[in-house]
Amino acid sequence: MSARRIDGKAAALDLRQRVAGEVAKLRSASGRAPGLAVVLVGEDPASAVYVRAKGKATIEAGMESFEHQLPADTPEADLLDLVDRLNADPAVDGILVQLPLPPQIDANKVITRIDPDKDVDGFNPVNAGRLAIGLHGFVPCTPLGCLKMLRAELGDLSGRSAVVIGRSNIVGKPLALLLLSDNCTVTIAHSRTRDLPAVVRRADIVVAAVGRAEMVKGDWIKPGACVIDVGINRVGPVEPGAKGRLVGDVDFASASEVAGAITPVPGGVGPMTIACLIRNTFVSAARREDFRYGKDL
Ligand code: GUN
Repeated sequence: MSARRIDGKAAALDLRQRVAGEVAKLRSASGRAPGLAVVLVGEDPASAVYVRAKGKATIEAGMESFEHQLPADTPEADLLDLVDRLNADPAVDGILVQLPLPPQIDANKVITRIDPDKDVDGFNPVNAGRLAIGLHGFVPCTPLGCLKMLRAELGDLSGRSAVVIGRSNIVGKPLALLLLSDNCTVTIAHSRTRDLPAVVRRADIVVAAVGRAEMVKGDWIKPGACVIDVGINRVGPVEPGAKGRLVGDVDFASASEVAGAITPVPGGVGPMTIACLIRNTFVSAARREDFRYGKDL
């Protein structure tokens, strides 16, 4: 049997187009475009690639992109000042400070400083708390993208058993809460879980978010299960200049023999993360403008 390949690129394009349609309506109703401020501290090349992609997607959706590039030795106080200015700026609906930050800056302090109602990353403790008790806030983009792909693939998730491998604040924990609110029976597995293959074998839904290349093998997967691979790991030649290849946390070749559906890497979760950022930024502006939009966004 060969699993259906979940096309994250197509799903992301569809979501971005639907958001762009709503943005156009909001612009004509309110007379202004939603705005996203993205802050990059330092010159980490991977972060610079992500930030550029986020800015491009923002503009393509008809929104304003404000990019702030600060030097790697920026003092923490200067970054906090910038966050305060963005919090107070009425043209800014969403604020994203790209992580990781250089060592002189306490990331938790910065994340906590962002106005929770502009925190389109959903990392502020207020939004983490809102998610935990079922209040409207902002949900982190990667878990939101995973949830949207699971609903599109499976329909109603009620009663399904889900195993989330990984307990990070950015992916594992929020995704477990989202699946719980969709009435899944949720297990969070992690590095201390005993007999991980046996735990994964019980799951109708498997989400791998551990950052270990091709760790989840095909014989861990229950036949027909839906597998979402959040991992992005570069493997291959280590010589200088060699690029290697990107693989997920799931051994795609063996897992796709057993699963019912599976996301590829690249082209699965990644594009949906950016689409959900665009979605969250629009939602932030819509809330600020009291603008009503379709429920399935
Ligand atoms: N670094 C890697 N992914 C992310 C993300 O989703 N948001 C932020 N702020 N930084 C990141």
